[in-house]
Amino acid sequence: MTDVQGKTVLITGASRGIGESAARVFAEAGANVVLVARSANDITRIADEIGEKALAVTCDVSNFSEVEAAVAKAVETFGGVDILINNAGVIEPISHLSTSDPEGWAKVIDINVKGVYYGIRAVQPMMEANGGGSILTISSGAAHGPVEAWSHYCTSKAAVNMLNRCVDKEARDKGIRAIGLSPGTVATEMQREIKSSGVNPVSKLDWSDHIPPEWPAKCLLWMCGPGGDDWLGDEISLRDESIRKAVGLI
Ligand SMILES: NC(=O)c1ccc[n+]([C@@H]2O[C@H](COP(=O)([O-])OP(=O)(O)OC[C@H]3O[C@@H](n4cnc5c(N)ncnc54)[C@H](OP(=O)(O)O)[C@@H]3O)[C@@H](O)[C@H]2O)c1
Repeated sequence: MTDVQGKTVLITGASRGIGESAARVFAEAGANVVLVARSANDITRIADEIGEKALAVTCDVSNFSEVEAAVAKAVETFGGVDILINNAGVIEPISHLSTSDPEGWAKVIDINVKGVYYGIRAVQPMMEANGGGSILTISSGAAHGPVEAWSHYCTSKAAVNMLNRCVDKEARDKGIRAIGLSPGTVATEMQREIKSSGVNPVSKLDWSDHIPPEWPAKCLLWMCGPGGDDWLGDEISLRDESIRKAVGLI
């Protein structure tokens, strides 16, 4: 198992879904976990359930000063950030381009793209000064192919895929391990929103087609160990059976 004992992981979007599962999996493995999201009640409840190794910090990732403050709080509490998980993301408003709301479309870019950049910008100098760290970013199949009524989401995930590659290009030799994770479809609130849109083939999937959020959470932990080293600057697909086996999911 990957050794994250005593390491500190900051997870954005930890109020539910994949982020919540990641917080629980990393805490179980011995890491200090910093749960970041806008829903203060949810992250506080989850942090309380995890115990003293967990810290809840209310933060909107689309605001750089809030992200900086969250990282500062993590450093003050645990002495640093060794692993950043860029997980926060939204898919609403799902709509066709021709009728899309420009403000809603742009807000998705603010969260899904700028939010990831802000996280990287806030931790990278400290990680480099400390000799390195892992920056893991949740990607999607939508980064690589168009999906009807998801132009904002596909564009955002394609952008963060490139951000991941840029971090690797500039900072691998400074000890930064930048890796993307495309989880496949996961049984979370986001899939409920997709289903209720009824727009494209993803919305027609059966709930049983989705993997549980614990799977990407366990894969993220695995990515922090030697298994992740083959994937620096690249993206892991959790649809890949050999990855599922390596992580111990099947
Ligand atoms: N579910 C899937 O099938 C699937 C597939 C591929 C990729 N992904 C990606 O996986 C990641 C997690 O999604 P999920 O499925 O776990 O969805 P989810 O259950 O809807 O969770 C999304 C998380 O993002 C947080 N978030 C949204 N906007 C935020 C903001 N402005 N600032 C801080 N946190 C924010 C939410 O917290 P608050 O609302 O409390 O802020 C929540 O904790 C996303 O990047 C998503 O694109 C999901």
